[in-house]
Amino acid sequence: MATLNFLTGNAGKLAEAQTLFSPLGWDVQRFEIEGEIPEIIEPQTDNLTTVALAKIAQGVELLASQGRLQESLLVEDSGLFIDALPEFPGVYSAHVLQSIGCEGILRLLDDERSAHFLTAAVLWTGEAVEVFIGRCDGKIAMKIRGDDGFGYDPIFIPDSNDDDRTFAEMPQEEKSACSHRGRALRALYDFLNENGA
Ligand code: IMP
Repeated sequence: MATLNFLTGNAGKLAEAQTLFSPLGWDVQRFEIEGEIPEIIEPQTDNLTTVALAKIAQGVELLASQGRLQESLLVEDSGLFIDALPEFPGVYSAHVLQSIGCEGILRLLDDERSAHFLTAAVLWTGEAVEVFIGRCDGKIAMKIRGDDGFGYDPIFIPDSNDDDRTFAEMPQEEKSACSHRGRALRALYDFLNENGA
C-alpha cells in the first residue's frame, strides 16, 4: 500500500482523507517530525490556493531537511463562503469559528442563506507540485443540527442533499461523496492513478 503524508493538525480532515483513500489502496498518514506535527505559518491573503501553496512550500522544505524529498506530501486549505457576507468567513474560517462559532454565523444571517465550501488541496508528488480544487454548493441551516463531522458541518446543508440534512447529520462517506474535500481529493486520486503513482 502506497503512503501519502498529510500535513494537517485537523483530525476531521485526516479521517476524511483516510476514509476516502484507504479503499483505493493508499495509506494516508499524518506528517510528523519526531512525533510532532510541524508548525506552519499561514500567509495573510484572501486566496485559499495561495495559503495552500505557502503551506506546501514549507512542508517540502521540512521533507528536504529530513532527507525525505522523494516522498509525497499533501496539504489542504478549506473555507466556507456565505453569499450574504461577501468573502466571509472565507480564508478566515478557522478564526471566525473559534471566535463566534456556528451560533455566531447563524445570528448574522437572515433569509439569504446560500453558501459554498471550497478546498484547495496541494500535492507534492516527490518531484512537482499539483493543485486540485473542490467546491460544494449549499446553504446555511436555520439552526445547528447533527453530531458528526467538524467545524461548520452542523450548519451546512449541501444542495445535493434532498432531505435537508446538514453535513453533521450524514455518515462520513455520504459527506465525502459530495463535499468540497471529497471532490478535490478524488481529482487528486485520479491524477495519481493516471500518472502511475
Ligand atoms: P482550514 O482549512 O483548516 O484553514 O479550515 C478553515 C476552517 O474551516 C476550520 O475552522 C475548519 O474547521 C473549517 N472547515 C474546513 N473544512 C470543513 C468541512 O469540511 N466542514 C466544516 N468545516 C470545515
